[in-house]
Amino acid sequence: MEKIVSLCKRRGFIYPNSEIYGGFAGFWNYGHYGVILKENIKCLWKQRFIFDHENMFATDTSIISNPKVLEASGHISNFGNEIFKTEVGTGEEITISHLRPETAQGIFVDFKNVIDSHHPKLPFGVGQIGKAFRNEISPRDFIFRQREFEQMEVEYFVKEAEWEKYFEMWREIMNKFAEEIGVKSHELEVPVDERAHYSKRTIDFQFDYPFGRGELWGLAYRTDFDLKNHNLDYFDEENGERIVPHVIEPSLGVDRSVLAVLASSYTEDELGGEPRIYLKLAKNIAPVRAAVFPLLKNKPELVSKAREVYVMLKKEFPNIEFDDNGNIGKRYRRQDEIGTPYCITIDFDTLEDNTVTLRDRDTGEQERIAISELFSKIKA
Ligand code: GAP
Repeated sequence: MEKIVSLCKRRGFIYPNSEIYGGFAGFWNYGHYGVILKENIKCLWKQRFIFDHENMFATDTSIISNPKVLEASGHISNFGNEIFKTEVGTGEEITISHLRPETAQGIFVDFKNVIDSHHPKLPFGVGQIGKAFRNEISPRDFIFRQREFEQMEVEYFVKEAEWEKYFEMWREIMNKFAEEIGVKSHELEVPVDERAHYSKRTIDFQFDYPFGRGELWGLAYRTDFDLKNHNLDYFDEENGERIVPHVIEPSLGVDRSVLAVLASSYTEDELGGEPRIYLKLAKNIAPVRAAVFPLLKNKPELVSKAREVYVMLKKEFPNIEFDDNGNIGKRYRRQDEIGTPYCITIDFDTLEDNTVTLRDRDTGEQERIAISELFSKIKA
């Protein structure tokens, strides 16, 4: 874990919060590459959990809400001491509320609004990505257990008789997502006495972190617990009756996903007789897709040709980087640690025949290819 934490700091993925004041337990900051990696994971989640399906809606609800929300949801009575209390308003108009411990409640509370706006038939779902806060007694293990973190949650509303079918559907989607981001997860059926107060069945998706196996994500059958507690229901046109839908909830932590991706991709090997560290990130989530180098920094014709290639590629892939700092070996090492799948070097031959050197991150192998072939190579 120390090696991952150190790489994250060295290369600008994740920094300790308030570091110049000695840090602050349970809080972390994302740097440039961390932001992009996290954003790529979130984008893929939105695609796989929302846009790939019919009858899925997006939302973005507030972190603080009317205190009645967390009272009705059972959070105040079950986790009161773990919830961040806050004062809303000033002077005599103060309302005591709490920072949300899960994004889910925002979705439940808007249930009626979503129905009125979109008139969906069951089953349908609402997904959101957002911050959640828990006053964890012992924040630990880097970004594994934080006091401020981010969740990607779907609340999927179904008829009670169909809950098992849709539980299985989301289970498969979660397993595929793990595979797509290069993470090997292990399912654990959570026993009754360890489930949250609202759940009748929970599967934890666990991951082998450097400190041992622990929870990565959860899939819960929340029954009609939340909608009932918020006095919400649904008019089932098919049978002409009002019913309270049941809920399947795939809940994924963003930061734990980032940590699992980093731990899965962190690799040490030897290349050309030298030890090296690299992140074997899946191409679709790597913060930098390809880096373009002029062989020599002080040869204007190489620099200008390299910038030309850089600008051309950047039109297609927003995350292309230009680097002319230090010698080529150093630039490779830096890109390896960021997890950049390809490095492209422009040299004197490029000026003659429009070919470049394309280096593969994992094998370190280099091939000579035409500039016109770069798009298809990098995309693959
Ligand atoms: N809405 C359901 C819910 O919040 P949870 O299992 O308490 O369920 C869901 O949290 C996910 O949020 C976890 O699987 C984990 O990925 C993430 N998570 C929970 N607490 C966390 C913490 N203190 N730090 C980082 N991530 C956390």
